[in-house]
Amino acid sequence: MLSRRNWMAGAAALPAAAQPGGAKNIVIASSNGLDCCNIAMAHICAGKDTLDAVVAGVNVNENDPADDSVGYGGLPNEEGVVELDASVMHGPTRRAGAVASLRNIKNPSKVAKLVMEQTDHIMLVGEGALRFAKAMGFSEENLLTEKSRLAWMVWKRTLRDGRGHSNWSDGLDAPPGKDMAAQFPGVSGELLAYALDRAMYPVTGTINCLALNAKGEMSGCTTTSGLAWKIPGRVGDSPIIGSGLYVDQEVGAAGSTGRGEENIRVAGAHSIVENMRHGMSPKDAVLDVLKRVSRNYNHDKARLNRFDINFYALRKDGAYAGGSLWNGQFRNTGFNSRRFAINDGSGNSRLEDCIFLYERPKA
Ligand code: GLY
Repeated sequence: MLSRRNWMAGAAALPAAAQPGGAKNIVIASSNGLDCCNIAMAHICAGKDTLDAVVAGVNVNENDPADDSVGYGGLPNEEGVVELDASVMHGPTRRAGAVASLRNIKNPSKVAKLVMEQTDHIMLVGEGALRFAKAMGFSEENLLTEKSRLAWMVWKRTLRDGRGHSNWSDGLDAPPGKDMAAQFPGVSGELLAYALDRAMYPVTGTINCLALNAKGEMSGCTTTSGLAWKIPGRVGDSPIIGSGLYVDQEVGAAGSTGRGEENIRVAGAHSIVENMRHGMSPKDAVLDVLKRVSRNYNHDKARLNRFDINFYALRKDGAYAGGSLWNGQFRNTGFNSRRFAINDGSGNSRLEDCIFLYERPKA
């Protein structure tokens, strides 16, 4: 088992430089994927399959309670239940697997991979996905952390009727003038500020990770807790093959993070791979799809300004790009949509700037 600590040793064991045929070891991911790329690259340098590598990489985020857009600690649906979506694609065998609205299992990427490997289906959802995961030996666990539970509770208290009343606030007969801090005694100001921000501006974070090895093999994985406070059963782009993820061994791979509804409408990942198939560079392929997102709003920047969406592209020859609709974020969501993570096998992962379609107007 490769740990974060010993990945450098593994990386040093094999040459990172380009191999015959032009392919090289490259892993890219969304900006929350620095550790993910380190782990994935360590697996690749150790000779592991590219899909095993990206799944091991994104497991870092799925297991991390601090990443509130993925796996354990992901923000829940409107009923306080964490529902996870994930997809995988394995270039060499051209296979895919996905799960959606999966509850109580913190590594949906692993379950998606088993759907690919152990069934004749591509996607399992909801109760069926959970039963499948349990049949495969996964144990159910509560995915809410104290932090995400608090954020959900704060969100519920911000929902008020026309008189400013919330059933989840203290009663009409309570002493007046109790502010939010007084309603959550013992909660730090910093945590409360975080929870209020998430309540007002729900996130769609997500992690996408794409890998290429020196043999020219490619794989990808996208995993997410989806939109915070979503209607139960809402499925975003992440588990949709062709939207949140697409890999074509002959061409390249692409994936997405951000507002999934916009991506589904342009089948973003597949569109990017098709663009590359027809000769576009990864940058141009991503920009073209961002333009399609913009076109769906008749390029109305006032409406486009209400969300963020990112795409990531990795071509079979190792060329890559990350792209964002805007060069600045709508809010400080803890997810840096202006940058993306890359590891080329020469050392630790680094962040590089995304290309972008629009300059975000100053608030
Ligand atoms: N991109 C993640 C989601 O919208 O669910």
